[in-house]
Amino acid sequence: MRITVLTLFPEMYHDFLSTSIIGRSLERELVQVDFVQIRDFAKDKFKHVDDSPYGGGMGQVMKCQPVLDALHSVKNENSYTVMMSPLGKTLTQKKARELSKKDHLILMCGHYEGLDARINNHVDELLSIGDYVLTGGEIASMVVMDSVIRLLKGSISEGSTDDESFENGLLEYPQYTMPREYEGEKVPEVLLSGNHAKIREWRIAKSLLATKENRPDLYAKHEFTKEEIKILKKIEEGKLDV
Ligand code: ADE
Repeated sequence: MRITVLTLFPEMYHDFLSTSIIGRSLERELVQVDFVQIRDFAKDKFKHVDDSPYGGGMGQVMKCQPVLDALHSVKNENSYTVMMSPLGKTLTQKKARELSKKDHLILMCGHYEGLDARINNHVDELLSIGDYVLTGGEIASMVVMDSVIRLLKGSISEGSTDDESFENGLLEYPQYTMPREYEGEKVPEVLLSGNHAKIREWRIAKSLLATKENRPDLYAKHEFTKEEIKILKKIEEGKLDV
């Protein structure tokens, strides 16, 4: 996979791309990341990429010409173009999986107050990372890259993304490691039992309860499996220690 980032601030990405799982994935050549400096496409002497908004108002707006010239310098028939923007649909695990299957992902990052809206007609989609406004799309694009790269085959151990939060529409169950007791707090007995059926039941129960408590929006639209319904009934009847 190849990811191209269009930005005014490529220097922001250095540590992110050289550290931990993401750094290793680049080393293993599972993904290649390159940058296009939007300012290189500005045509005036002062390399301006923005101007004041028509209709008045605060701040500066990024101009069509340098941004679109930068885009056209890298876009090909295999490219999928995403504009980072608080106006987009919100990134989900499902979207990250979808993007991880693209050959060439172009992530466009605006800065300042925004971009000329005509630029949006040249991208496949706008993508937000949440209901808050950042100073630019750079951090948002790193969030997208992180969520996408870790899903590439060979990035993290096979199977370790299967049980994660959001993969089945629920939050993940709690995990524990050594020691069995830490400052008086014990690891739940069932996890030490070696009884895999009971462990599975406990994990599903915990997952359902955490989702109900913290993400009622996800819980409301969850399609419960037969197994989950059985477990919920057990919890209701007090037959499960969770
Ligand atoms: N740029 C500014 N805020 C953003 C957000 N929430 N998501 C994506 N890009 C952004």
